[in-house]
Amino acid sequence: MGKRSKLEKFAENLQFPNVFENFNFEDPRLYAAYNKPVDYRGQWKEKYFRNDFPLTLELACGRGEYSLGLARLNAKKNYIGIDIKGARIWKGAATALAEDLSQVAFVRTRIELIPTFFAKDEVDEIWITFPDPFPRPSKSNRRLISVPYLKTYKQILRPGALLHLKTDNTPLYEFGLTTLSSDNDFEIINHYNDVYQQSSITPELEIRTYYEKIHLSEGRTIKYIQSRYMPK
Ligand SMILES: C[S@@+](CC[C@H](N)C(=O)[O-])C[C@H]1O[C@@H](n2cnc3c(N)ncnc32)[C@H](O)[C@@H]1O
Repeated sequence: MGKRSKLEKFAENLQFPNVFENFNFEDPRLYAAYNKPVDYRGQWKEKYFRNDFPLTLELACGRGEYSLGLARLNAKKNYIGIDIKGARIWKGAATALAEDLSQVAFVRTRIELIPTFFAKDEVDEIWITFPDPFPRPSKSNRRLISVPYLKTYKQILRPGALLHLKTDNTPLYEFGLTTLSSDNDFEIINHYNDVYQQSSITPELEIRTYYEKIHLSEGRTIKYIQSRYMPK
């Protein structure tokens, strides 16, 4: 792939067929390659992926290791990684193109805006991997597993959908357990305070992101919560 500057990555994102960008958060529209406006809300499977496979979102995807890793494991699922950082998305998008993973795409936007780009019941699964922990109590609503974000996810998840959180941060893990168990519309299915101490884990859980590798190299333990959206 060679070394690229950030600006070169941004320019390439504008030409990649698997990257969609929202340039103005005040005007949430998505643009495909060559600045072509697109509206796939409610129709990602039919209009973009051209299949009827379930749709998984990876939120705060960074370089998209989860979308790529899951797509390598499951050819019959669609994946969209979402992040605001274009240079990180570039890495995932370039890898998906190089490996011909046509069921992987990326959206560059703010996670708060996802109900503008995805319709009610459109999303079958969400992975949130190593989100910023926002340790200060005054910023707790910015944690991606806080009540305002759960409210956002409910606008696009179909009943029965899974929500996964992977983190190295113990307070964030405990916060996630509290918010999810206090929410009548989610039920916690599994939670591990040390993923790699489990006697067996799924191949999905063994995927390691850029940040996960750093945390593991620093001797941190990895925590995981799997919950299901069951609206009452
Ligand atoms: C610590 S990194 C984790 C990246 C990746 N999941 C990993 O494990 O390597 C957190 C990511 O969240 C993204 N992010 C944070 N808040 C966001 C928001 N509101 N909307 C979109 N992306 C966000 C950042 O740009 C960053 O790439």
